[in-house]
Amino acid sequence: DNRPIVIAVDGPAASGKGTIARALAAHFGLPHMDTGLLYRAVALNLWRWGGDPSSEFEALRACSAVGVDPDDPELRSEAVSKYASAISAYPSVRAALLERQQEFAGQPKGAVLDGRDIGTVIAPDAPVKLFVTASAEVRAQRRVRELLARGMPAHLEDVLLDIHARDDRDSSRKTAPLRQADGALLLDTTDLDVDQSIAKAINLAEEQLARAE
Ligand code: CDP
Ligand code: CDP
Repeated sequence: DNRPIVIAVDGPAASGKGTIARALAAHFGLPHMDTGLLYRAVALNLWRWGGDPSSEFEALRACSAVGVDPDDPELRSEAVSKYASAISAYPSVRAALLERQQEFAGQPKGAVLDGRDIGTVIAPDAPVKLFVTASAEVRAQRRVRELLARGMPAHLEDVLLDIHARDDRDSSRKTAPLRQADGALLLDTTDLDVDQSIAKAINLAEEQLARAE
C-alpha cells in the first residue's frame, strides 16, 4: 500500500503535541513540521523590527523573508509566544503561511504536522488525526520546566496566565480556531508521562490507519 500517510496533530500549548508528532514521524518514517514555528518566526521578525502586533498590515509584512532557525531560543520566549498568538489571528497572515504547510503535507509518502488547524484546515482529509490536550495547570508546569531547562526565566503564575490567554484567543478567533477536528481522536496527556503519551499516540494512529484501509 503506497498511499501517503498524513498525520494531523493539533492541541493547545504544551499539551505534548510536538513530542508526539516527532515520535509518530520517527515511527512511520515520515517528515515532520512544527507549524507553530512558522507563526513564531513571523512573531520574532515583527518583534525584532519593533513592529506592532495589533496591526495586521505590519504582521503581514513580517511574513516575508521568514527564515526559521528552530534552535533560536528567542523563538520560545514569552514575548514571542504572545506575539505569535496575536498575529496568528489575522486571516492574511494565515493565508501567507498556508501554501508551505499544504506543500509539506502533500509530499508523496505523507508527513506529520502539528499545530492548531492541521486537521481542520491544512489537511482535513488526513487519515490520522489526533487532538492532544492536558489540563492548563499541567501544561503550565511542563512549559516552566522546559523554559528553565533552556536557561530562560519562567514563573508558574505568569506562564499559567499566558496559557489561559492563548487558549482563549486561539479558540475564539474567527479564522481557523483551535478545535477538535471532525474525525480526530482525543488524547488527554494530563496523567501520562512522555513515553506513555507516545505509546498511546502510536496505538491511536495505527487504529485510524487500519480503519482507513
Ligand atoms: O508550543 P505551543 O503550543 O506553546 O505554541 P506553538 O505551537 O509554537 O504556537 C504558537 C502560536 O502560534 C499559538 O499560540 C497559536 O496562536 C499559533 N499557531 C496557530 O495559530 N496555528 C498553528 N497551526 C500553529 C500555531
Ligand atoms: O508541542 P507542545 O507545545 O504541545 O508540547 P511539547 O513541546 O511536546 O511538550 C512540552 C513539554 O512537556 C516538553 O518538555 C515535553 O517533554 C513535556 N511533556 C511531558 O512532560 N509529558 C507529556 N506527556 C508530554 C510532554
